[in-house]
Amino acid sequence: MADYDVIIIGSGPGGYVSAIRCAQLGLKTACVEGRDTLGGTCLNVGCIPSKALLHASHMLHEAEHNFAAMGLKGKSPSVDWKQMLAYKDDVISQNTKGIEFLFKKNKVDWLKGWGSIPAPGKVKVGEETHNARNIVIATGSVSSSLPGVEVDEKVVVTSTGALELNKVPKKMVVIGAGVIGLEMGSVYARLGTEVEVIEFLDAVTPGMDAEIAKTFQRTLKKQGLKFTMGAAVQKVEATKTKAKVTYKLRKNDAEATVDADVVLVATGRKPFTDGLGLAELGVEMTDRGQVKVGDHWNTNVAGIYAIGDAIEGPMLAHKAEDEGIGVAETIAGQKGHVNYGVIPGVIYTSPEVASVGQTEEQLKEAGRAYKVGKFSFMGNGRAKANFAGEGFVKILADAETDRVLGAHMIGPMVGDLIHEICVGMEFGAAAEDIARTCHAHPTYSEAVREAALACGDGAIHS
Ligand code: NAI
Repeated sequence: MADYDVIIIGSGPGGYVSAIRCAQLGLKTACVEGRDTLGGTCLNVGCIPSKALLHASHMLHEAEHNFAAMGLKGKSPSVDWKQMLAYKDDVISQNTKGIEFLFKKNKVDWLKGWGSIPAPGKVKVGEETHNARNIVIATGSVSSSLPGVEVDEKVVVTSTGALELNKVPKKMVVIGAGVIGLEMGSVYARLGTEVEVIEFLDAVTPGMDAEIAKTFQRTLKKQGLKFTMGAAVQKVEATKTKAKVTYKLRKNDAEATVDADVVLVATGRKPFTDGLGLAELGVEMTDRGQVKVGDHWNTNVAGIYAIGDAIEGPMLAHKAEDEGIGVAETIAGQKGHVNYGVIPGVIYTSPEVASVGQTEEQLKEAGRAYKVGKFSFMGNGRAKANFAGEGFVKILADAETDRVLGAHMIGPMVGDLIHEICVGMEFGAAAEDIARTCHAHPTYSEAVREAALACGDGAIHS
């Protein structure tokens, strides 16, 4: 048993970042983690491993489609799936060990085991109960279940099983055209799998700027993904090696079935707070099962805070990280703050998709007068040289003040490009500020500047 200023439960991006910042601010800190490795879903079975597979499959795509045109001739690579998984596991291990190192460096104790809160100020891990003046719940989320669908993580999988398949399937049905479904669907499509996505709504990636969503879906179709839209999956019947998916079309209630070797269920995630003892403590929850927090991530029980996927807001690692820093600063007596209006969202397909701030649909609904500046990557020299001319940058600015209200992009490396807009928005930039900032040539970032120019007197290269 030990006394701590802070015990953080969960070592995902929210928890581990918070623990490091707490320690840096002079607080005696421990982080509870029941997995064998630190890093939570993101590092072990989410963001990081999926990016390894996205990178490997993108390289294969480049070799198959673009090498010959660049004068790189020879045998095209074939997929050694075992090696690809080993590469992915190595990436995971480097990252999770990195967190272990950072914990040691910052003197954060890793309390190994699953934690619970038997009483305010107490955290139980295994047989030991520790004292904690402050407790931060950073327990993340798990895949939500779908009625009529039983996940075995072999034939019917969540994103976790999709990162560990024993072979590349011939046919995969993806339920849900959200971020997970499309990222993993594109990995397997590039590896040669026939991928069919079944989506309840009429557009992919709900909440995304509609013009981007439409272009994104068209691009994925060109890459071979098949879409069945407006279809609600009713049930999945699986054997040890095959599955049959039954869905109903919303427009006419017609039922249809499709067979697959693997079915990926990607219909959302839900907060994971089981076993913490929150109900016994009287911690208030929202009706969607999230821990209810105030402006400073405080729950209704003094000394207990919550951050990340366990609370409201987008389920994004970087949102959790920022909250982790904010709550650490709050506990240390500073003024922790997160600007929820400037949280970027990125889909790591190829081309990438990125957005921040308001969409055109949101601006219309709010009745706000805005202008649009757009620029296609076809007009960007670097993109053309790199076979990456597909996509565009769109900047939305206030019609009167020119202040940037949002940006939406599809194209090469837009997951990185979006941050110039984020910084601009944090500083209250006008589109003209971005347009008048010198951008190196030739870079993809020139497309952002051109879109900013298009909000004013016009882009140069279109
Ligand atoms: P999602 O909420 O993004 O998408 C789920 C989709 O499934 C929706 O389009 C929904 O309409 C559809 N759906 C629901 N029930 C259905 C049914 N019965 N039949 C057909 N379609 C159905 O959820 P997803 O992709 O599982 O991701 C979960 C969370 O993880 C999200 O919050 C996402 O932001 C986060 N995430 C973020 C990543 C990133 O930032 N790159 C990567 C992976 C996950």
